[in-house]
Amino acid sequence: MIKITFKYNGKSVDINATEGQTLLQLAEQNDIPLVGGCGGACICGSCRVEIDPEHISFLPEPEFNEQDILECLPMCKSTSRLACQIVITKDMDGMIVTVG
Ligand code: FES
Repeated sequence: MIKITFKYNGKSVDINATEGQTLLQLAEQNDIPLVGGCGGACICGSCRVEIDPEHISFLPEPEFNEQDILECLPMCKSTSRLACQIVITKDMDGMIVTVG
C-alpha cells in the first residue's frame, strides 16, 4: 500500500494510492482541491505542488517541459513539481504533498 498525505487549507488527508497513477489523478479522485487546468498536458502549471524534502529525491528529475513550466511560476521552489507529471511509485509511500 502506498500512502500519500495531501495538505491543503490547514487540513491533512491521508490517501491510499495506486502505483502508476499520477498525483493529479489521485487528487482529483479524492476531491483534493488541486486544479489540472490543461488536463495533465504539462502546459498550464496550475497543478503545482510542494513535495516534502525527505521524498523529493525519490522522484525522477523533471523532464524539460515540466522544468520549463516550473521556472515560469512565481512561487516555484526546489521542492516544487507538477502533480500531473508525477507517476506514483512504491518509493513515494509516506510522501507529503502540499497544495497551494
Ligand atoms: S495540469 Fe496543467 S501542467 Fe499539470
